[in-house]
Formats: sequence, C-alpha cells, structure tokens
Amino acid sequence: MDGIERRAQRIAQQIAERLDASGCPRPRLGFILGSGWGAAADRMEISASFSFAQLEGMPMCGVPGHTGVFLCGTMAGKPAVAVQGRLHMYEGHPPAEAVLPVAVLYALGVRTIVLTNAAGAVNADYSAGDVMVIRDHINFTFRNPLAGLDSGERTRFVDLAHTYDEQLRAALCGACAGAGIPCREGVYMQVLGPSYETPAEVRAFRALGADAVGMSTAVEAIYARYLGMRVAAVSFLSNAAAGLSSGGVSHAEVLERSACHAAALSALLYTFADTADF
Ligand code: HPA
Repeated sequence: MDGIERRAQRIAQQIAERLDASGCPRPRLGFILGSGWGAAADRMEISASFSFAQLEGMPMCGVPGHTGVFLCGTMAGKPAVAVQGRLHMYEGHPPAEAVLPVAVLYALGVRTIVLTNAAGAVNADYSAGDVMVIRDHINFTFRNPLAGLDSGERTRFVDLAHTYDEQLRAALCGACAGAGIPCREGVYMQVLGPSYETPAEVRAFRALGADAVGMSTAVEAIYARYLGMRVAAVSFLSNAAAGLSSGGVSHAEVLERSACHAAALSALLYTFADTADF
C-alpha cells in the first residue's frame, strides 16, 4: 500500500466511524464535483457532511467554488458520497496529493467514481453549455500520480486503454438525454494551469486530438484505475477555448455559467445514479 492510500485510510476512518455510528450505509458510488458542479449534489439526501478542515490529515481547498467537503448520503436511493471541491496541482499540491480525495473515496468503499469538471470547448462543433462525456484523455501536465509511489502489491504500470468505462459512459449519455442536456462525447486534455491557454495552444491541442481542455480529472482517473475503480467522467463546457470566440475566459465566468445550468447538472447525476448499473 502506498503512502497516499495509508493517509487516505486514516481520513476515511474518521468519516466511516460517524457513518457506522449513525447506521448510514457505506457508499459504493462516488462523485468528485469540480468547478461549477458543486450544486449538482442538490438532489442527494445528505445524512452527514465532513469539511476538509475537520478531517485530520486532509489539506484545504484554496479555490473559489471548491468548498472542500465530503457529503455522504444517498443519490436516487443509492448510498453515495460526493466531494465538493478538488486539490489542484496548480495550487502547488503534488500529483499524489491531488488524488487524495479519490483515495479517500476508495478507502470508504467506493468502487464506481464519476469525475466532473468545467472545461473549455476545443472542438469548434461543441458549444458553451454542452456537456461532454469523456471517452479518453490526454494527460498534458507531464505529471503522474503513480510516479514515485511505493505501489506494494498493486502495479504502477496501469493499463489505460479502457480508462473510461463503456457502460458508465452510455449511462451518462442516457442521463443527459433524460435531463434534456445536449450531450457530446470526446477527448479531454488536462493541462497544469492555472493560466488559461493561448489561441496557439488551443490550435495545437485540437491537432493533437483534444475536444475539451481543463485543469483536472486525468490524474484522478489514472489513480482511480490504479486502485481498480470503474471510472466515468463528464465535463460541463463552460466556454469556448481561447481563440474560438470573441470573448475571453475567467474563473468567475466559468462558475457563473455553470451555476445557470446547476439544476440540469444535478438532474444528470441523479438520473445517472438512478439508471446506471454499478
Ligand atoms: N481552459 C482550461 N480550463 C478550463 C477552461 C478553459 O478554457 N474552462 C474551464 N476550465
């Protein structure tokens, strides 16, 4: 077991003790709610919540829109946990720490994880306001959470050929249709950030095969696959990437645009939990 897994177990223990004491079932389904997705947990029935600050060993979230809280309860009647907030590498977190929330969910019993984020649309056929189910990723951060880990009985040579589970992807697309949201599928490129891209970078990313660009998710998916979890991921395309529209992009705008779609995004995750087989 690696150091992050051990650290995650100590954090998960603090959550599990309270869940067990109040008779709440352990979650099998987990959500990481990224920029603009915080309100997507509105459809959860919450039985307990734990801020990062109250959990010994958990770092703080330092980005507006990322509350830093584990919400435990049920989604569509299924025991679930949602993490509102992320630890980004651009805040200075090392790659292995950026995936700590994923490791905590695993230690709690989660075996199916849905990663959400806000992203810029790189594919010119995709529009701000669309949802993109992630089919594959390009990790353009040149960092890997498995580098340097003492992987013990696991292998660090993780096969990423089928990172994003086909059945879960289909369930997400179906849930989009159910929630009345235009649904795309595509390749997500993770960059380090925190600055947004230049138009030349966006042209280069498109040539490399990216449909959307953002600052998270790929490293989490890598770590989740290392742990053997089933992974699904979905982007809210909050803006056209640099150079593809006349307007600029700012973090406040990303949050504002996704807030307008909060009800649809929460309906999407609810319908997914209701209909997916996991
Ligand atoms: N680029 C990178 N990250 C993002 C963007 C973007 O255009 N929009 C939301 N997150």
